[in-house]
Amino acid sequence: QTIYLSEYRVPAYLVDTVDLRFELFEDGTRVHSTLAVRRNPESDAGAAPLELDGDSLVLESVALDGKALSEGEYEDRGDKLIVESVPEQFELSVVTWIEPQNNTRLEGLYKSSGMFCTQCEAEGFRCITFFPDRPDVMSRFRTRVEADKSAYPVLLSNGNDVERGDLGEGRHFVTWEDPFPKPCYLFALVAGDLVEKRDTFTTCSGRDIDLRMYVEPRNAEKCDHAMDSLKRSMRWDEETYGREYDLEIFMIVAVDDFNMGAMENKGLNIFNSSCVLASQETATDVAFQRIEAIVAHEYFHNWSGNRVTCRDWFQLSLKEGFTVFRDSQFSADVGSPTVKRIEDVNVLRTAQFAEDGGPMAHPVRPASYMEISNFYTLTIYEKGAEVVRMIHTLLGPDMFRKGSDLYFQRHDGQAVTTDDFVRAMEDASGRDLSQFRLWYEQAGTPVLDVSDEFDSGQGIYRLTIRQSIPDTPGQTGKKPQHIPFALGLLGSRGESLPLRLESDSQDAPTERVLELTGETHVFEFHGLNECPVPSLLRQFSAPVRVRYPWTREQMLFLMSHDPDGFNRWDAGQRLAVDVIQSLIGAPKDSSIDARLVAAYRHLISDSSLDQALVANMLQLPSAAYLIELAESADAPAIHEARERVLKHLAIALRDDLVACYRRNLEEGDYAVTPEQIARRSLRNTALAWLLQINDEEGRELAQRQFRNSDNMTDRLGALRALVNSDYEEDRERVLEEFYERFQEDPQVVEQWFSVQAASDRAGQLPQIRALLEHRAFDWKNPNKIRSVVGAFAGQNLAAFHRPDGSGYNFLADQVCRLDDSNPQIAARLVTPLTRWKKFAPAHSELMKSALERIRDKSGLSRDVYEVVHKSLAG
Ligand code: ARG
Ligand code: ZN
Repeated sequence: QTIYLSEYRVPAYLVDTVDLRFELFEDGTRVHSTLAVRRNPESDAGAAPLELDGDSLVLESVALDGKALSEGEYEDRGDKLIVESVPEQFELSVVTWIEPQNNTRLEGLYKSSGMFCTQCEAEGFRCITFFPDRPDVMSRFRTRVEADKSAYPVLLSNGNDVERGDLGEGRHFVTWEDPFPKPCYLFALVAGDLVEKRDTFTTCSGRDIDLRMYVEPRNAEKCDHAMDSLKRSMRWDEETYGREYDLEIFMIVAVDDFNMGAMENKGLNIFNSSCVLASQETATDVAFQRIEAIVAHEYFHNWSGNRVTCRDWFQLSLKEGFTVFRDSQFSADVGSPTVKRIEDVNVLRTAQFAEDGGPMAHPVRPASYMEISNFYTLTIYEKGAEVVRMIHTLLGPDMFRKGSDLYFQRHDGQAVTTDDFVRAMEDASGRDLSQFRLWYEQAGTPVLDVSDEFDSGQGIYRLTIRQSIPDTPGQTGKKPQHIPFALGLLGSRGESLPLRLESDSQDAPTERVLELTGETHVFEFHGLNECPVPSLLRQFSAPVRVRYPWTREQMLFLMSHDPDGFNRWDAGQRLAVDVIQSLIGAPKDSSIDARLVAAYRHLISDSSLDQALVANMLQLPSAAYLIELAESADAPAIHEARERVLKHLAIALRDDLVACYRRNLEEGDYAVTPEQIARRSLRNTALAWLLQINDEEGRELAQRQFRNSDNMTDRLGALRALVNSDYEEDRERVLEEFYERFQEDPQVVEQWFSVQAASDRAGQLPQIRALLEHRAFDWKNPNKIRSVVGAFAGQNLAAFHRPDGSGYNFLADQVCRLDDSNPQIAARLVTPLTRWKKFAPAHSELMKSALERIRDKSGLSRDVYEVVHKSLAG
């Protein structure tokens, strides 16, 4: 049962207000719902039957305008409640019984570590009560929560608390009212024994907002970073987008069992604990930055998502793409912009490009889906953000701001489409984005074939760019897209040359954003007296693949001279890729280009370079990225070639690495600043490399750091280096010590799991199976599943791609096991297998048969069904 965008119809009925009463008990919850319903004047459905969505509900009663309906007057089909004849306007009261304590899917209302919580996006509200569960039905909610007072002293929902009191028999209630109409996917409820952390924020117009975080008592000391991040986000959104917060209270709750990262419920954001709780002793730099970005992301949704929401789920990128773009701008502003760009592009090119080239490829605005949960993808989020970023590049920051102001003003309180977003940008700027809209409609990563020539007689440098877009499932013969292509040209001394087009007068800029709209473009740059080195697609100005016959000289040159930090990094990556690729399947004693070693030596030892950039430049391209680049990937051979280069570099640069480690040791009080992050990253890279070559001094440094560090970045860095070394005794010992020390902390235990699962030393199948039996492992907790099964299949390529197919079969088993209890997580875990066509025949056949085993499981969920069937067909 596929759902199509083309079949969109406005809702036949609207719900103006929703009155909810939750009676929370240990053996179940009774939900009383009263809806003020009226016919939608914009619908041509007339006096159609009323249809409400439901899922796993026990219906207790239905009443219309206060009169109980008898069984013949409505039909309960399970997934739909149908009332055949209803007046033009009426009140519908429905009582349902649900069992949150048995809800393992973690959709709707469920229990996590003893507390009640909800996740309603995309279609979880229908697991709570019968309702028109679609984002274009927006209602004002009033919610009364009733529960045992001692077990659940804290009772929360959206908006402001307007009433509270005792109910006798140890029970109490709180009533919440949300003045802003919202779709039901933004509804939230929390009940638990939680501690409250308070702060305030004064908005630009002088209103004081109550900021509250609710966490389990043991996490009380892990809230400061999220709270600070929240305040920075609130200020930033005022300054950068003119967006002020609108309610009197803003709440954040941390929940251990959560399918995704976090959720932007109106006024009551709910977070996966691992995306919000942090302390110096327990969270790494990466975690600190991730938390700041996610807190910002969810907060920014208050405008891009809540005040202006999506008309239907095909428009998901309207809120997600835009909000990811906003949070990445924020992270760039509060940290290092170049590093943020590198991180984002790395994810995009490694994972989104793979998705776009695989069987689940879909446009940023899909035309159809079976299960919407499967479309919370890198394409909707990350590519969607790149699409917004390109509009920003094409319009420039001022026009973009005018466009976003118009968008928010024009559509406040509405449920709209990506087309409405683009139209606001067009109307504000006067630019025509009609061809640009293809970015929303066509799937697949565009390829730019670039060639150049230099006419020394006339001093003209000629650049030819040809675009093509590969076919994707269901889409062929695509039209050229509108692509902003940022470019610079470098002279032989590394200087930036003016980009003078024929039409230019004297002054020409040293960087231009060329606009590609046709299949082929030829650009001529005049007045040059030598052939320049082109710096292509600066800042990764469009989510495309660039093919250009770079020589290694050019790569090395750009690596040290390009004024665009992103492209410097990119040149280094390209060089490393080129060297590694040349070794795949080559004889063991084939030589490795000495210029790579020289370039890395320069990076490691020249401390005048931007150390944050250097820390990133030293990271070799991941095996996953190398696989993505390959035509027919031989995963074990890729892994081996990469390891060989790493060891070769480590041996050649051994002394430089020790010096680098020592130079980056001192730093004063721990702080998550770009400078300190770079120092920690550099010393941990040095350690990791030294341990790859069994360096005794490196081993001692790692052990000392493991014992003495005052922060998790260093402790985990040392742990990872030792786990991935040949020092088997050290490995066992540090893993044990680490667990002993941190066993009470779920977030740290998750790290501990994934360090092992991602390691080809500690994460071979028998060890993975042992981790699944470990007492800290929990099949009901998605984080634990991701940190073992997800890390194994996604990061431990050597073990996962064992030639006997055991890794694939293992993954298939776990998917089948999870399919009944948590289909959303099961469907996500399948991802590595869906890439089967990417691999050399021996592997792809085995991956395919693992997929077939999943396909043949009886009672397969719709989530897994869609992914597996599309993968086998595509
Ligand atoms: N809207 C949330 C966010 O991006 C994600 C919710 C995803 N939920 C889901 N069932 N897939 O912030
Ligand atoms: Zn989001």
